[in-house]
Amino acid sequence: MNTVDVIAIDGPVASGKGSVSSGVAKKLGFHVLDSGSLYRLTAYSALTQKADLDDEAEITRIAQSLKPVFKDGKIFLNEEDVTDAIRHEEVGLAASRIAVHTAVRSSLFELQRNFAQAPGLVADGRDMGSVVFPEAVLKVFLTASAQSRAERRIKQLKEKGISSNIDDLVRQIKERDERDMNRSAAPLVPADGARILDSSDLTLDETISQVLEWYREIRP
Ligand code: DC
Repeated sequence: MNTVDVIAIDGPVASGKGSVSSGVAKKLGFHVLDSGSLYRLTAYSALTQKADLDDEAEITRIAQSLKPVFKDGKIFLNEEDVTDAIRHEEVGLAASRIAVHTAVRSSLFELQRNFAQAPGLVADGRDMGSVVFPEAVLKVFLTASAQSRAERRIKQLKEKGISSNIDDLVRQIKERDERDMNRSAAPLVPADGARILDSSDLTLDETISQVLEWYREIRP
């Protein structure tokens, strides 16, 4: 059982969970768990090894042997800096595919629980409040329309000099929502007691403030 406060922030792809989680963690001085990065790392390894993404045993073996190092905002796998590589849409889609395997999810469970260290943790993902940290003091389910999520993603990609097509992005986002919500293992649904936060019409700062306000209601 955790002795530190965990704030779980779950939600669909490109809902802004990452930015909101980092913003909340920074204000509170908490650690952050970007659980999607663990699924992405597994997918990246699988793609590199040309493994069959549908082969649960093979992907589980890869997840179990994963030894990621998180240092200064960067992620290393076997000493290779994979911070940017795992952000590619191709890796995200592969992550969504390997995330359907129950045994893969179990393999990543302890790795995720270990992030709950003093003074506290903001955990970002799909099943943080429902499965990994059911004892979280605050559970937030962050949503936004597929259109506004695609627009935000386009902006992020543009800042990185990558051009993309809005219709393709809306389609990819809907495809991932569909798979993440309808899988039988830990589907993307609001956890019991989660507060729903629709950020379609909120700025990042307003979204962060709302989460902090809820936390302060719990820990005045
Ligand atoms: O948050 P993200 O886009 O980096 O996540 C990539 C994929 O990983 C996502 O499509 C589904 C999976 N995932 C998951 O199943 N459970 C989590 N807690 C986090 C991510």
